[in-house]
Amino acid sequence: MKAKKIIHAVFMISVFALIVSSCKKDKAEEDANQALIDEVNSSGYTYYQQETLLSGVSPSPHGSFKLRFNNVAKAALDSTGELPVGNSFPTGSIIVKELFVGTTLDQFAVMKKDASNANAGSGWVWAEFKPDGTVTYSAANKGSGCIGCHSGTPNRDLTRTFDLH
Ligand code: HEC
Repeated sequence: MKAKKIIHAVFMISVFALIVSSCKKDKAEEDANQALIDEVNSSGYTYYQQETLLSGVSPSPHGSFKLRFNNVAKAALDSTGELPVGNSFPTGSIIVKELFVGTTLDQFAVMKKDASNANAGSGWVWAEFKPDGTVTYSAANKGSGCIGCHSGTPNRDLTRTFDLH
């Protein structure tokens, strides 16, 4: 009888510990995505090609877009607004791709250079979300599904715009 009670108690404690640890993980993931959303919505960005609405070019899955760089990323660009071939973006660089359906902003695709981030994949944190903050591709996926294509030739530090637009 006593043994049964102990087994039951141990079982309940394990279940509880599991729930707590999975909640913690969810919370960390939520925080990571929210941190990126906050950065995307903050000021201090410069648009690529004077905020032109560009059409996605094969092999892009993204559709029409505008691109903007935070000041850290911008500092790495040359006088034509491009990352020179062979150069890398410094830590803290954020590149925001605003995806449009027609003339309506539909989604953000984001890359943040942050190699020591727990969610980094190949040196970048990758995420996608809607303007209302709904996450459509979580940073916790570490760029799986993004990196393969972004490593295609040619790329500049895993970015693809400069060679296509
Ligand atoms: C099948 C290929 C492909 C996949 C998969 C892909 N991208 Fe891209 N991405 C591109 C191309 C090509 C561009 C260049 C601009 C354009 O024409 O769309 C681009 C541009 C970008 C940019 C602007 C910086 C740059 O590289 O020029 C961001 C940010 C971005 N993608 C994020 C993502 C994220 C996040 C994912 C995964 C959820 C992803 N991409 C998946 C092909 C891809």
